[in-house]
Amino acid sequence: MEIFNDLPAVWTYSWQQLEEASQENNHPWRLPVIANLTGSQVSQRTVVLRKVSQKERHLRFYTDLRSAKISQKDERLRFSWLFYNTVSQIQLRIQSEGVVVSVEEADRIWRGLPVYARSTYASIKPPGTIITRPKDALPAGFFTMSSIQTDAARANFMAIDNQVKELEFLQLHREGHRRARFVWTDGQWESNWLVP
Ligand SMILES: Cc1cc2nc3c(=O)[nH]c(=O)nc-3n(C[C@H](O)[C@H](O)[C@H](O)COP(=O)(O)O)c2cc1C
Repeated sequence: MEIFNDLPAVWTYSWQQLEEASQENNHPWRLPVIANLTGSQVSQRTVVLRKVSQKERHLRFYTDLRSAKISQKDERLRFSWLFYNTVSQIQLRIQSEGVVVSVEEADRIWRGLPVYARSTYASIKPPGTIITRPKDALPAGFFTMSSIQTDAARANFMAIDNQVKELEFLQLHREGHRRARFVWTDGQWESNWLVP
């Protein structure tokens, strides 16, 4: 991998990779880890990067609105994101603040989800609830239901657009590591190189 020596090139590369990751299942950045505070404890979990908009500074993921990452939030959906590509040896850390997508947009996404994907949002009790047997999680026969029969789970489905406030890039390289930070400040991106 070529070494980065130009901040605009780092910026362009980072967003290009994020956009590709949201469209390619096998992209190394497709499954970031996101962390937030749930109560007084930091929690991390893997999510699927569903959509990226550089123009709007958005990273989207889907979730069950009853999940701990959402239901125990303070008023703001603040997340820290971690991406790493073992081949390019590039790590990205992002700080964001989330906004729930509109009902119309969530409805539109929901209509496109097949039954197996809807199962993630269809548990009878909230995610994390203790159950006696694994199969107690979903309504009986869920996977043989028609799409319409699973529509009740729409009530639990949520898509969140996370507005990027800070993006930090780290490239490990034999000729010297490269670390750059981009911070959204007063309506524009402030960029700096940092000591790695
Ligand atoms: C590969 C993979 C992808 C996942 N994608 C999502 C996702 O997009 N959204 C989500 O809410 N949970 C996803 N999960 C499950 C979360 O990692 C986590 O277990 C779940 O959301 C409960 O987390 P919470 O209790 O912190 O809310 C995924 C797990 C794996 C292993």
